[in-house]
Amino acid sequence: MPATISTAPGKTILFGEHAVVYGQPAIAIPVNERRAKVKIFPVIGVFSEKIQFIAPQIQLDKEYKELIPSHPFKIAMDEVKKYLNIPQYPSCKIFLSSTIPISSGLGSSAAISVALIKGLFEFIGFQPTKSILSQLAYQIEIEFHGHPSGIDNSVIAFNQPILFQKKKDIELIEPGEEFVIVIADSGIIGNTKIAVAGVRERWLKNRIGYEAYFNKIGELVIQAKKEIELGNHSEVGRLMNSNQEFLQRIGVSHPSLENLIKIAIKNGALGSKLSGGGLGGNIIALTRLEKADYLSQELLKNGAAQTIIMTLKKEIENE
Ligand code: PMV
Repeated sequence: MPATISTAPGKTILFGEHAVVYGQPAIAIPVNERRAKVKIFPVIGVFSEKIQFIAPQIQLDKEYKELIPSHPFKIAMDEVKKYLNIPQYPSCKIFLSSTIPISSGLGSSAAISVALIKGLFEFIGFQPTKSILSQLAYQIEIEFHGHPSGIDNSVIAFNQPILFQKKKDIELIEPGEEFVIVIADSGIIGNTKIAVAGVRERWLKNRIGYEAYFNKIGELVIQAKKEIELGNHSEVGRLMNSNQEFLQRIGVSHPSLENLIKIAIKNGALGSKLSGGGLGGNIIALTRLEKADYLSQELLKNGAAQTIIMTLKKEIENE
């Protein structure tokens, strides 16, 4: 049984958050500049199932059998066991680490789940399909997030830009050109559950108005997919600005996000919007490679807690 190393990227939502909850399409992209990593080492000569989880970043050093039933690592282990129909795992030590900031809308939980599930399959000697990876990781997302749309596990398992729509097969997107994006953290902790619940409350009071916003967002998402495939930077930027206007109207923006978006546009971004749940969390700004460092510095000088410069490549990343 050889040792295995598996990784999975972070993610950010480029278009369509919130409206996706109401059945509209959304576009998410992998953030390969930040990754979750899982290393599995066999423990030779221990025949009973003895599995140690070691994740120093969350102060975890525990045996599999000691984990509570709702623990994400336990769910991952049990899901893979059930799927592969194996009675027990060979004894092993599992080391987990991540460079993806936690609770920041960058998909940290889905990334660790995908990396762990992939690692377990490979440790047992199987290669999971991306679709199975995504499906099993979704079971863990449910435990973490209640009723997530499933966009995080999908984009992270496929490690490719996707058009995601509930109850439909995901569509892979191939960018016609490279896109450089600065992700800036407002430093205000966003809470996706609260943001989603707020939108729901307002939608219940004004269904016609909100559904019109969601439809408009859906239309611009479809347009954005085409423009990404054509490599049309300025049009993608314009659509980001337009998506942000609707996010403002549905009440999920925040003064700290508005400030960063203003700074991004002032410093030459082609478009900028909040990304994810909102009410805090991150903004994303589309820029040109040669301007990315400068834009990142300006955002940091003007209130961003941290930034990530990411490139959306034309080809699929090798893992
Ligand atoms: O905050 P994030 O990046 O996890 O994104 C939430 C996206 C929503 O559309 C607001 C909710 C969802 O489940 O899709």
